[in-house]
Amino acid sequence: MLAAVTHAEMQGLRAGDPPARGAGSPRFVQAALPDAGDVAPALRRGLAAGRAQIPARFLYDELGSRLFDAITALPEYYPTRTEAALLAEHLPAIAAAVPVQGCTLIDLGAGSCEKAPRLFPMVRPRQYVAVDISVDFLRTALTRLQLEHPAITMLGVGTDFSSSLELPAAVGGERRLFFYPGSSIGNFAPDEAVAFLRRVRERMDGHGALWIGADLQKDRRVLVRAYDDGLGVTAAFNRNILRHVNALAGTDFAPADWRHVARYDEQHGRIEMHLEAERSLTVRWPGGERAFAQGERIHTENSYKYTPDGFRALLERAGLRQVGMWTDQKGWFGFFVAVPA
Ligand code: AVI
Repeated sequence: MLAAVTHAEMQGLRAGDPPARGAGSPRFVQAALPDAGDVAPALRRGLAAGRAQIPARFLYDELGSRLFDAITALPEYYPTRTEAALLAEHLPAIAAAVPVQGCTLIDLGAGSCEKAPRLFPMVRPRQYVAVDISVDFLRTALTRLQLEHPAITMLGVGTDFSSSLELPAAVGGERRLFFYPGSSIGNFAPDEAVAFLRRVRERMDGHGALWIGADLQKDRRVLVRAYDDGLGVTAAFNRNILRHVNALAGTDFAPADWRHVARYDEQHGRIEMHLEAERSLTVRWPGGERAFAQGERIHTENSYKYTPDGFRALLERAGLRQVGMWTDQKGWFGFFVAVPA
């Protein structure tokens, strides 16, 4: 069971409070979860729309999260290992770009809390705040991590930070370092990305920093291979969304009737994932149905790729100023440090 707190309670914890508890055991705070009753109607509306779509967040049920972990180990999927290598090589320089020692390190989308601890020796955070949609994703990893780092105060926060970034008062207010690795910013449309980055900037109270990874534009063949791998793991990840939607919206999708499609849209600078009907078929749900012609598609994900200048401009639109950017030799991935402008 989640120890849920309401939105008002998240707000009500005062910003000036000292970080709660000494080291020992991490504390967990869960914001109110979205109303499950709203999910099925929204999914059905997306399926019935002229251009059928399913929001990409539904790729991540339990199996979907495991399939995504497998994707990050594929030879074709370069972002995860390229970013890890960049951080390993340039961490001292990145940490020197703006003062971070003794900060509150806020890890957005922390999940199994694997990446941020690699920063600890250089950043020496006073407090580590792991944020994910549900604290249940964080419990095991954060509890283990706390044992390994007893001197760092640890807090797990469950909140959907893609729509609002409520932080409990137990999150230290001084020198906040937001860490958003993995190029997940690319899964927002640019306007949504700007709105998200603004929320992050607002939580910096004028003197924090953001460390963020972004995937960069490159040869389209490299991009398409990364999203349509030889083993078919990404295809399974994409088709699995249909199982998840069946569970949530009562649809009767047969995943085997759908072909994984990954294409690069040059105009928008984004990889698109779709599921394409292998034959004409009808998908039914309580109170409705939708006929799909053979070849008709459901849009499931966008992954935007930026140029270094394009990403700097995105940061600027959000009121952030880039103070450093690191990239690999091929220029495939960028790691950016930004502060309030
Ligand atoms: C989580 N996100 C950054 C991944 C990406 O590359 O856009 C999701 C993904 N989709 C297919 N493969 C990986």
